[in-house]
Amino acid sequence: MQIKNICCIGAGYVGGPTMAVIALKCPHINVTVVDANPDKIKAWNGPLDKLPIYEPGLAEVVGEARGRNLFFSDDIPNNIEKAEMIFMAVNTPTKTEGEGAGMAADLRYVETCARDIAKYSKSDKIVIEKSTLPVRTAEKIKEILEENSTDIHFEILSNPEFLAEGTAIQDLFKSDRVLIGGDETQSGQKAVQALVDIYSNWIPKEKILTTNVWSSELAKLASNAMLAQRISSINSLSALCEKTGANIDELSKAIGMDHRIGPHFLKASVGFGGSCFQKDILNLVYLCKHYGLDEVAEYWHQVVKINDYQKDRFAQKIIDHFGGDLKNKKILILGWAFKANTNDIRESPAIDVSKKLYKNGANLEIYDPIVEQNKIYKVLKSWEKFKNDIIIKQNQSSEIEFYDAIVLLTEWEVFKSYNYQSNIIFDGRYFLRKIYE
Ligand code: UDX
Ligand code: UDX
Repeated sequence: MQIKNICCIGAGYVGGPTMAVIALKCPHINVTVVDANPDKIKAWNGPLDKLPIYEPGLAEVVGEARGRNLFFSDDIPNNIEKAEMIFMAVNTPTKTEGEGAGMAADLRYVETCARDIAKYSKSDKIVIEKSTLPVRTAEKIKEILEENSTDIHFEILSNPEFLAEGTAIQDLFKSDRVLIGGDETQSGQKAVQALVDIYSNWIPKEKILTTNVWSSELAKLASNAMLAQRISSINSLSALCEKTGANIDELSKAIGMDHRIGPHFLKASVGFGGSCFQKDILNLVYLCKHYGLDEVAEYWHQVVKINDYQKDRFAQKIIDHFGGDLKNKKILILGWAFKANTNDIRESPAIDVSKKLYKNGANLEIYDPIVEQNKIYKVLKSWEKFKNDIIIKQNQSSEIEFYDAIVLLTEWEVFKSYNYQSNIIFDGRYFLRKIYE
C-alpha cells in the first residue's frame, strides 16, 4: 500500500518529535499533526525558539520540514479523512477514579480518538497505537471503530515509542529497534509492511522488529519496567552504601563493568521521574493482578515503592541534617525538570522533595534553566496550605550567595559550573560528588 498522507492525533512529547522526524526522512509523504488543544497547534506553527516542547535538535528538524510536508492543524475531521495512516499519540495517564484508580491506564483519550477516527473516515485506514497502552487495548479500539462505522476496514498496529526525552531526536534518528505489532492475517501483514516501508527510509531493516500486536504492546511496558527496575535496584543499594561507607558510584561502576549487566541505567539518583516509568509499571502491576498473578504484580510494584522510598528518604535526610526542623532555613532548589534537557516536569522528583521540605517549614527558592515559571507555579498552587511564599527565580548567577542548603534535583550541565562557595549541597543526582564530599 502506498502511503501519501499520515495524520497523527496528539501533538505532545511523543507525537510532535516523532512526526517531525518521519516528515524529515520521508519528504514524499505529507505528515499532519492534529491536537484537540488549538493553543498547542498555534505554538507548533509559531517561532522555532518557542515550540511547545524543549528538545535538543527539534527546532532544526521542524524548521526544515514544516510547510514542506510537515503540518500542524486543529482540523481533526479533514485530516483524519485524508490520511491512509493514522497515529494515535494522545496521553494515557494513570486513572484517578473508578475501577483500577491509581494503577490502570486511563484510556479515555484513546477511546475519543478511536471514535473520531470512526466518525470521520470515509475509506480504509491503518490505525497505529503510538501511546503506551495495556496489553489487548487493540481489541477495544477495534471494537469502537467497528461499532461506529460501516463498510470501512480498519487495521490496527502497535508501534510503541522508545524515545527518551532530552535525546528524542537522536533516539528517533538512530533507534535501537523499531517495533511493529500487527495481526497475522493477510491484511494485517500488509499494514505491517506499509509501516516497515516508512521506517526503512532511515532505519536499517535488521532493526525493524515485527511481532504480533500483543507482544508489541507488552514489550513497551516490559522495557520501561526493566529500565526502571535497574534504577530502583541501584537506588536501594545507595541506602546500604550510606550505612556501610561503600561508595555508590564505585559500586555502580564495578557492577556495570560486567558485560552481562552493562553500565547503563545504573546511576543512583533521588529517584526516577517522567511520564512513563511509574505509569507503565503500575499498569503492568494492574494487568498482572487482573490475570491473578499476584506474586508477579508484587515484584514489579516494589520498583515503584523503592522509588517513593528514595524520594522520601532524600528529603528526610535534609530535614534530619537540620535537627528535624526547617523553620527559617533558606533552601535553594536547583532543577524542576524530571531530567536534564527537557521542560517536562511530569512525576519529577523535584516536586515530591520540595513539597516535603516546604511542609516541614523550609523557606524555598526554586530555579530551573528551562522549565517555564508558570508551570512551576501551577504545581505549587495545587499544594495544600501553599501560602504563595516560594520564590521562583528567573535567573541564577553562577556565584551562589549563601543558602542554608542547596538541593540539586536535575542534572543540568550548567549547575556543574556554579561557584557554590560555603553552601551545603544535597546532590540528588550525585553529579557534584566532589563538591559534596
Ligand atoms: C505519550 C504517550 O502517548 C503516552 O502513552 C506515553 O506513555 C508517554 O508519551 P505524551 O506525548 O508525552 O504522551 O503526552 P502529551 O505531551 O500530554 O501529549 C498528548 C497530546 O494529545 C496533548 O497535546 C493533548 O492535547 C492531545 N490530546 C489529548 C488530543 O489531541 N486529544 C485528546 O482527546 C486527548
Ligand atoms: C523512558 C524510556 O527510557 C524510554 O525508552 C521510553 O520511551 C519513555 O520512558 P524518559 O522517561 O523520557 O524515557 O527518560 P529516561 O532517560 O528513561 O529517564 C527516566 C528517569 O530515570 C529520569 O528521571 C532520570 O533522571 C532517571 N534515571 C535514568 C536515573 O535516575 N538513573 C539512571 O541511571 C537513568
